[in-house]
Parts: sequence; C-alpha cells; structure tokens
Amino acid sequence: MTEPNPETDGGIDSGGGSESGTDAGVGTDGTDSELGSDGASTPVPIADPELSADAIERVESVLESDRLADGPEVRAFEDEFATYCGTDEGVATANGTTALHAALEALGVEDGDAVITSPFSFVASANAIRLAGGTPVFADIDPETYTLDPDAVERVLEERDDIVGLLPVHLYGLPADMPALCALADERDLFVVEDACQAHGAAIDGTRVGGFGDAACFSFYPTKNMTTGEGGMIVTDRADVADRSASYVNHGRDTSGTGGYDHVDLGHNYRLTSVAAAIGRVQLERLSQFNRARRENAAAYDDRFADLPLETPTEPAGSRHVYHQYTVRTDDRDGLETTLSEREVGTGVYYETPIHRLPAYETVSTAAATLPRAERAADEVLSLPVHPGLSERDRRIVVEAVRDHFASQ
Ligand SMILES: Cc1ncc(COP(=O)(O)O)c(C=O)c1O
Repeated sequence: MTEPNPETDGGIDSGGGSESGTDAGVGTDGTDSELGSDGASTPVPIADPELSADAIERVESVLESDRLADGPEVRAFEDEFATYCGTDEGVATANGTTALHAALEALGVEDGDAVITSPFSFVASANAIRLAGGTPVFADIDPETYTLDPDAVERVLEERDDIVGLLPVHLYGLPADMPALCALADERDLFVVEDACQAHGAAIDGTRVGGFGDAACFSFYPTKNMTTGEGGMIVTDRADVADRSASYVNHGRDTSGTGGYDHVDLGHNYRLTSVAAAIGRVQLERLSQFNRARRENAAAYDDRFADLPLETPTEPAGSRHVYHQYTVRTDDRDGLETTLSEREVGTGVYYETPIHRLPAYETVSTAAATLPRAERAADEVLSLPVHPGLSERDRRIVVEAVRDHFASQ
C-alpha cells in the first residue's frame, strides 16, 4: 500500500513494496542473521499505510448513503478529532496545505503581512503564507530538534516590525518549543498557527499539539501517522477562527445558514469528502496504537545505534515525540543512503533543500537569509523506516544494514 508521491512530502525513496508483516527468514539468535539463507532480504519500505477492515466497512456504508461530499460523517470526524486534540472545534479540509491556507485566511492575514516560519519543512508550510497573501520570513532551527529556535525567532522579531504571526512546524513528529514561542507571540500580540501536519498525538507536558496556538493544522496524507488518503484538519479553541475557516473552505458560505447560496465572503472549495472522513474516524481510533508502535520502533533503534557515529532523534524532557519520521544525522548521509538502498531499506531525505533555497522562492525577498543550521541539516539528515507496520525482522534488517555501513568505514 505504499504510495510514493514525489509531489508531496519529499517523496518516498527506495524499498517500495512491502512484505513487512511477514517474519520469514528471521535468524534464530534474533540478532545478526536477519537475512534468509540465500542472503536475500525483502524490501523494508519507508512508509506503509494500513487500512483495517473496519475502515472498509465504514466507507461502504458512506457509499450506500446519499452523502458522498460534505455531510454528517465529516461533522463527526471534526468533533472526534478536535476532542482528541483537546480543542473546542475542528474544521475538516481537503489536505494539510488547504488547512494551513484557510487557517491563515481566517486569522486575517493580508497582503504584505509577514509570518515567521521554519525554513526546514515541507514547502507547504511557507506556501500557505504566500497563498494567503503574506510573506514568509524564515528563522533558523534548533540543530537538535530541527524545529524553530525561539532565540532565532526573537532576533527576527527585534529586527522587523511587520510580523503578524508565527507558524512553527512540529517536524518529524516532535513538537516545536511551544511554551517559548507562545510567550514571544503573547508579548507582541502575534497569532500562532501550529503546522502539526506531521505530529498527530505529539504533546508537551501532557498537552497535545493543536492545543497551543490560535489554530493548528494537520495532514492525513498516506505517509502520515494517520491517513484519509488525502485530507486535512484545522483545530482551534477560537470560535471566530473555526467559523471563518469553515466558511472559507466552503465557498465563503454563511456557516449559520442552510448551505445554500448565501456567500458572505470570498472562499474556496477545500472540503473533505465523506469517504475520507469515514476512513479518518477509524484511523483516529487506532492512532494511539500506531503512535505506540512508532515509539517502540524508535526506542529499539536508539538502543541499537547508541554506539555509532550517528546522531539519533532527540526528545526534550516533557515532550512526546510521535516519530512521523525517525531521522538520523551523519556527515556520511549519502554513503549511508546508498548502503541502505543496496540492502533494500527505504529511506527518505526530508528535506534535501531548505525552503528558502528552492527555485520557487527565488523571487521571495526573505529567501535571501542565511540560515546555516537548516542548510547543514539538509545535507546530513536521513529518515529510516519507523512506521507501525514494521515487523521485528524488518527492524533487524534496518539495524544490521546501518551497523554494517559504519563497520565497513
Ligand atoms: C510539515 C508539513 N506541512 C504541510 C504539509 C501539507 O500537507 P498535505 O500534503 O496534506 O497538503 C505537509 C505534508 O506533506 C507537511 O509535512
């Protein structure tokens, strides 16, 4: 079921097909003879979205109903997802990009408004600001967490007086430093939109992401911690933001009306389908289990890589990482990527080019910034398979391939 899509999220590299549920060929000592007797391995994909029979049944019942587009299934998914995040409201959208765009529109971003975001993210984080008419301003990242560095944000805030908001990204499933970023925003009356597209269920001191900013946006793309195929969600405690977002994603309709031709504002069709919502409701029921499996896989890697010349992911005290990606860092990134590809272990580089260096940003004046930490990270990061579909055997194949790479140096 792996679904490579180089157009979103950096694509999925080698190791496409999956037999990751099988356990054939496991060495009896469980340590270093993971390959079959002929030395062959099955590929270990970087992502392997899993849909249960329950999801198929729920989709069938939607298909049998007369509500394929927007409808009660979408409303139920919005309520359930908002409850999961600990927020008052949820507004479903067609994908994570549209969630970000609609949230920024709802917060009133206008032409020329500057919004600080991370240069080390999927391009949609910054694109959403441009789509709303604003200007993305990049601040450098913390080199250990790969998320926006509050000190770097503060330096930008001291230099510019046109910043209206912050858009931190919870990259790879680790929350950005929200207490520090929200304090900076509060002091200056800025809005905060969390890009939580990679971080369903991540938390700081027990508060789930989504509960920190004025709004938070999620993606349900197939590689994410939960999926609806394509899909997105805005969550918020602000009734005004929920109302304006719900209107924006539905052609600017009056949300208190009957859904007819009562267009009170400019809007788009960014709606989620009922089929996608049906899948999402079942995936949400399984999200905790998926995240537990991701965390177990990550802990096993941490343990087996501890003695290698490799930086493994960090989890600051109080933070709960949900390992959308398990991203290691080495100055021999390309060598490690080649070894893993030869061993049919799927890997991904998220992201090879920081946003401010992308051709699409050549004409954006703020892209001229020098952001050395993001630029160095882009040369050194490599993500390994950490998805919940990994078997013990898959994990051992990955560990053995990584260890062999460094043993041969
Ligand atoms: C950090 C981040 N922001 C935004 C998006 C956009 O989400 P989508 O692909 O659902 O539009 C993604 C997903 O790829 C992402 O990883």
